[in-house]
Amino acid sequence: MSATTSSKPVLAGKAAFITGGSRGIGAAIVRRLAADGAAVAFSYTSSEAAAKELAGSVEAAGGRAIALRVDSADAVALRTAIDQAARTFGRLDILVNNAGVFKVGTVEEMSLEDFDRTLNVNVRAVFVGTQAAVRHMADGGRVITIGSTNAERVPSPGFGAYAMSKSALTGLTRGLARDLGPRGITVNNVQPGPVDTDMNPADGPNAASMHALMALPRHGSGADIAAMVAYLAGPEAGFVTGASLSIDGGFSA
Ligand SMILES: NC(=O)c1ccc[n+]([C@@H]2O[C@H](COP(=O)([O-])OP(=O)(O)OC[C@H]3O[C@@H](n4cnc5c(N)ncnc54)[C@H](OP(=O)(O)O)[C@@H]3O)[C@@H](O)[C@H]2O)c1
Repeated sequence: MSATTSSKPVLAGKAAFITGGSRGIGAAIVRRLAADGAAVAFSYTSSEAAAKELAGSVEAAGGRAIALRVDSADAVALRTAIDQAARTFGRLDILVNNAGVFKVGTVEEMSLEDFDRTLNVNVRAVFVGTQAAVRHMADGGRVITIGSTNAERVPSPGFGAYAMSKSALTGLTRGLARDLGPRGITVNNVQPGPVDTDMNPADGPNAASMHALMALPRHGSGADIAAMVAYLAGPEAGFVTGASLSIDGGFSA
């Protein structure tokens, strides 16, 4: 059921680009923004069948969706995809920087290749995607990034590079909010705790130890995170900017 003001879905007439939308949290965001009336473009790297199925299901429900194969680490390809989406829809109102990689390894173990990949996908692509998207945005635009509760709390070894990448997003979000405030564009960072996806399955080997750290000892769902994104994308969140908002079952409490 889509959120509505009067009879129109709240995001009717808007267009959104979501990075990493074929699976997990990104797919839930694609579904939710489409249900709220937005035309959606989303990227993926390898899950072509899942991406096509998702775009098809949005279209079958009467929405508009395009799926684009693009690695967020490739700045030229990411810019081109965002430009293509804006051209196709005739506008761009919402960017969700969701694509992320989770490379685990202690300082003794982690390769420079994994460290660089973490920075390129989780941080540099957020800057590149935002730079490309805001060229198309009008007053009222929205930039929303999916960070992590690991920006606030790193309770086990091997998470250093990932936590660094998600901490970087808190500062980038503040700075981008200052840059784009004069244009009426808000920039916010959503910090999930454990969410049941391929990256972090609720029945995975580390689930119980994560639950032991939480006020609400369970994984969240992609839909939980998509609901916060939908709020930030919508008209009621126009005064929220520069914020990093935890949605983590109390993981960082
Ligand atoms: N799950 C959690 O517990 C959790 C907690 C906190 C934060 N997060 C963050 O939430 C975001 C989504 O996580 P998730 O759990 O949904 O992950 P996931 O299940 O691994 O799904 C990742 C999605 O991103 C896409 N993707 C991965 N690398 C990409 C790249 N380089 N360029 C473009 N797309 C790429 C994947 O595409 P393909 O299908 O083609 O591979 C897939 O659609 C990430 O930023 C993650 O750090 C997750």
